[in-house]
Amino acid sequence: MTIQLATPEAIAAAARYLVQGGLVAFPTETVYGLGADATNGLALAAIFSVKGRPTFNPLIIHVPTAELAWRYGVRTAMAEKLAAAFWPGPLTLVLDQQAGRLVEDLATAGLSTIALRVPAHPVALALLRAAGRPIAAPSANRSGRVSPTTAAHVAADLADDVPIILDGGETQVGLESTIVDVSGARAVLLRPGGVTRQAIEAVLGVSLATHPVGDTPMTPTAPGQLASHYAPNAPVRLDADRVRSGEALLAFGAPLAHAGLVLNLSPTGDLLEAASKLFAALRGLDQAQPTSIAVMRIPQHGLGEAINDRLRRAAAPR
Ligand code: TXA
Ligand code: MG
Repeated sequence: MTIQLATPEAIAAAARYLVQGGLVAFPTETVYGLGADATNGLALAAIFSVKGRPTFNPLIIHVPTAELAWRYGVRTAMAEKLAAAFWPGPLTLVLDQQAGRLVEDLATAGLSTIALRVPAHPVALALLRAAGRPIAAPSANRSGRVSPTTAAHVAADLADDVPIILDGGETQVGLESTIVDVSGARAVLLRPGGVTRQAIEAVLGVSLATHPVGDTPMTPTAPGQLASHYAPNAPVRLDADRVRSGEALLAFGAPLAHAGLVLNLSPTGDLLEAASKLFAALRGLDQAQPTSIAVMRIPQHGLGEAINDRLRRAAAPR
């Protein structure tokens, strides 16, 4: 049975499964989350695969205390005020990442910032404490579907792909957390959610700027801005069928003949593996300062769509 009552034993087993790289659906006070270890690239790739997300948007990282949040994100005065007022609770803070790449790039979509949240749900908190890892968790539904507020909703959507769904009853908030970017001089409301703008403004004593988003309020960072984050220094040449001299090769499947530097996203042609390695591979090739990076064609199905989206941004004219 996939749905498990969230007993202490079930929570402990779920935490072990998370640490091993598994996906666990768990209740928070907002919506059920689909959790993965944010330090495990393959586990993160599985989130995107299971959700059927067409793009790798940045995920919210869940921790059990504010002190742990400051380990991953650089605290600011505004962040401290909001954390004191609303954590644990339905508020996500976007902060500059601490140095040292403490979570995988897939968790942050390669951004320099990180979204952090301390959820107010006893099951979520117990799971986070037991796992002892930062846990990335988008809502536990297939992309484009309504967010789940019961374990049964999760099962209806994801039971085939998620072996553990912890049942903690119906969520209280029922819509996602409010996301506020407090990494800069002015606090910016990126996504309205469980904590109202007015409550946040009352704590900060200033009004929130609103990020100018169009019809995709969940994606606060415009595609154009994102592009530069994925772009290595070397130019990127897509759909290569041969490698020119001076080029490095980003391979997928059986590699093209090449005397120079080669990194293979997946020798067996596994898109999940490729997704988990993409950012690190681009970084690694770039460090060798090639004249350009030749990228073999990657199929457009499944996670390939998201991989190709990022590669197209990396290859876009700058
Ligand atoms: O209530 C919630 O927040 C739920 C529960 C499970 O905790 N989680 C949730 O996560 O909604 P998710 O991964 O679906 O939210 C991701 C959104 C992104 O689409 C983006 O809007 C924002 O969080 N986000 C994440 N990292 C960001 C960053 N570094 N900068 C700006 N926005 C970011
Ligand atoms: Mg969602």
